[in-house]
Amino acid sequence: MPEFSPVFREQLHDLFRWRRDVRHFRRDPLPEPVLDGLLRTACLAPSVGLSEPWRFVRVDDPHRRAAVRSDFARCNARALSDRAGVDAQRYARLKLAGLDDAPHHVAVLSHPEPAQGRGLGRGTMPQTTTWSTVMAIHTFWLAATAAGIGVGWVSIIDPERIKAMLDVDPALELVAYLCVGYPARPASTPELERRGWERRAPERREWIRR
Ligand SMILES: Cc1cc2nc3c(=O)[nH]c(=O)nc-3n(C[C@H](O)[C@H](O)[C@H](O)COP(=O)(O)O)c2cc1C
Repeated sequence: MPEFSPVFREQLHDLFRWRRDVRHFRRDPLPEPVLDGLLRTACLAPSVGLSEPWRFVRVDDPHRRAAVRSDFARCNARALSDRAGVDAQRYARLKLAGLDDAPHHVAVLSHPEPAQGRGLGRGTMPQTTTWSTVMAIHTFWLAATAAGIGVGWVSIIDPERIKAMLDVDPALELVAYLCVGYPARPASTPELERRGWERRAPERREWIRR
């Protein structure tokens, strides 16, 4: 086990602080070995029973991408119509995906009943497979940030329709649809905070004690 120096730990904290959900991308693609490296790092994530339930799908086909883009537009329009007044106006001003510019699209799916891991740890908490996949996504996200690469998580989509578009095993669960590429500009604060939608709550940094 290597020793992590205080300088490294400070830089690691900076990495956590500077990880952003990115919605403005440059269009130039990432080198393939860099993308492969991010996937390999993501696979270092913990998983229930060592089941590694994640499946990372590269969506390169322009027709599939266009279909995902229009599903997002449909779901986003519905989300807007569910809101009223000032709230709707503010929602309409948000940019909630980088699907047009991001050079890479990655769908992340999770196997709900993987043979790997032989069921260990899932008996009473079957959702642990999904959580394991989220751990892998976060690991991917941090590794990308460390390499100057942006990741944007899109969840305003219909998971069943996206799975059909991607022609994947219907038993898999869609956990995330990620836009990946070099960010158009750095940002020290969440976009939703910059646009006045929401801000980090100081009380979340306090323990709840029982
Ligand atoms: C599960 C999950 C789903 C998300 N879905 C979306 C989304 O559909 N569109 C979007 O713009 N951001 C999405 N985000 C990003 C959040 O808005 C973002 O993480 C949050 O505002 C904090 O900003 P930061 O990630 O830059 O710190 C999602 C994040 C998570 C963890």
